[in-house]
Amino acid sequence: MAQMTTPTAEELAASGLGLAVDGAVARITLSRPRRRNAMTGRTWTMLARIGQTLPEAVRIVVVGGAGPTFSSGIDLDMFRPGDIDGEPTPLSLLADHPDDTAPLERAIAEYQEGFLWLRRADIVSVAAVRGHAIGAGFQLALSCDIRVLSDTARLCMKEPALGLVPDLTGTKPLVELVGVNRAVELCLTARTIDAEEAARLRLAEQVVADSELEPAVDELVAQLLAVPADAARATKELLLQAGRNDLETQARAERAAQLARLVAMAGAAR
Ligand code: ACO
Repeated sequence: MAQMTTPTAEELAASGLGLAVDGAVARITLSRPRRRNAMTGRTWTMLARIGQTLPEAVRIVVVGGAGPTFSSGIDLDMFRPGDIDGEPTPLSLLADHPDDTAPLERAIAEYQEGFLWLRRADIVSVAAVRGHAIGAGFQLALSCDIRVLSDTARLCMKEPALGLVPDLTGTKPLVELVGVNRAVELCLTARTIDAEEAARLRLAEQVVADSELEPAVDELVAQLLAVPADAARATKELLLQAGRNDLETQARAERAAQLARLVAMAGAAR
């Protein structure tokens, strides 16, 4: 992949995003409030670029939305032919290449990169969700390690109702969190769930009063920062592989990770 450069404030704004980095904490804001933070292909490729170019010191990434809505999902203009934000829409990619779906598949893979990096072991990602998180917005929240919901949060996997599938990496975390039966029910009814039900279904680690969303996220960030960075990374690596490892393999991975931690601690004490 070509070397990426840190996006400028203008480039971020043109993609519907804001970014503030303060030491170990990066805050990404979906910032097209007049369209309820609808996202385009450029939003997602810019998210990927943010992930690629974050300073090494960043350990926590908070993803939130400007205004009362986390995100209304894909910008509905993306379903029209032509360009949006200076980039071809999926329909215009198909129109330009009627016998070749490869360019569209490449575009979707690039969009997915904007979501995948939020699972990286060297960061903890936190979604701060106020109001609606619809479709791609719900999938963005699902890409984060921890979801803190305002009691105004409303989650909906709308894609099937629009004749589509959720393809922005949201199906795996959804099934892992709620189980396949509930995931089928949520996706194939495309119903909207409120914050209280989201918490019951394990889709929220925390639900707080709307006025408490920012303070609750700040407190969580402080708690996360209090854990040493190397131990946090090694532990997240272990947790990420626990679901696919058998017990013996996971126990071996724990031993290896602990040896590395203890060797590092012994080295530091010398
Ligand atoms: N794409 C483009 N524009 C949008 C979108 C969107 N996804 N969502 C809202 N807007 C625009 C509206 O057109 C409206 O524009 P206008 O002021 O020029 O008329 C403005 O944002 C405000 O929208 P309202 O509907 O008036 O806002 P409200 O707060 O009442 O409702 C809500 C918010 C629930 C998010 C509603 O706008 C909505 O349902 N939007 C569509 C959601 C959707 O279907 N998303 C696609 C999901 S599938 C996927 O993401 C892959």
